Amino acid sequence: MARWGKFITFEGIDGSGKSTLLNAVYERLLEVFPAEKVVKTHEPGGTHFADLLRGVLSERVEREPMAELFTLMAARYDHTKRKIIPALQDGKVVLCDRYSDSTFAYQVFGKGIEYYTVARFNKVATLGIKPKLTLLIDVPVDVALGRLAEKGKLDHYESLDRAFFERVRYGYLALAKRAKKRIKVLDGTQPEGVVLEEAWKHVQRVLGMV
Ligand SMILES: Nc1ncnc2c1ncn2[C@@H]1O[C@H](COP(=O)(O)OP(=O)(O)OP(=O)(O)O)[C@@H](O)[C@H]1O
Ligand SMILES: [Mg+2]
Repeated sequence: MARWGKFITFEGIDGSGKSTLLNAVYERLLEVFPAEKVVKTHEPGGTHFADLLRGVLSERVEREPMAELFTLMAARYDHTKRKIIPALQDGKVVLCDRYSDSTFAYQVFGKGIEYYTVARFNKVATLGIKPKLTLLIDVPVDVALGRLAEKGKLDHYESLDRAFFERVRYGYLALAKRAKKRIKVLDGTQPEGVVLEEAWKHVQRVLGMV
């Protein structure tokens, strides 16, 4: 059996630059690993079923925070069990755009669900797996919302108010303080190339490349 792979997640508020950084790290990894060794995925989603749930979540309709939490957890369970764990069992590097830290930042700090409620359900939904490395891109809310406005389209989350994103940003930084070894905070106001270089050092370290 292959050695257990490496699970790396990308976190930050909407518009912080997660997808941009993930794609850049992915391209770099392809210079080092064969394509079948590196998996790019995202949450909510990542499997057909979970992507359908993502569509539901992004509708601009009111919902109970707990109903939303269960939907996120259903998506995470399917994605983790059917895609992430099999890839890790095959020794692959899995890059995931958002994972559990998003749920703590958005559902606990953003929407007010109790921390231990999320922690309990999350333990089930993740089947106990944890990222080896989490790259948290930190940017002021104004910068992130400005970038999103340029993109044009707002979904349910992005249409929430400024104060919501301030709480989510604060939540992420609080999580990072509690998990300094795993969560590395990157200053996302720097040019994309600079953010990539900082991220790459952490990636190299967890992959044992340095
Ligand atoms: N370091 C950077 N400096 C300036 N602009 C950036 C930087 N990184 C990304 N961007 C730009 O900001 C916008 C948002 O980036 P991106 O889509 O990667 O963010 P995201 O965190 O994935 O957002 P979402 O949560 O909405 O998926 C894009 O137009 C991207 O080109
Ligand atoms: Mg994105």
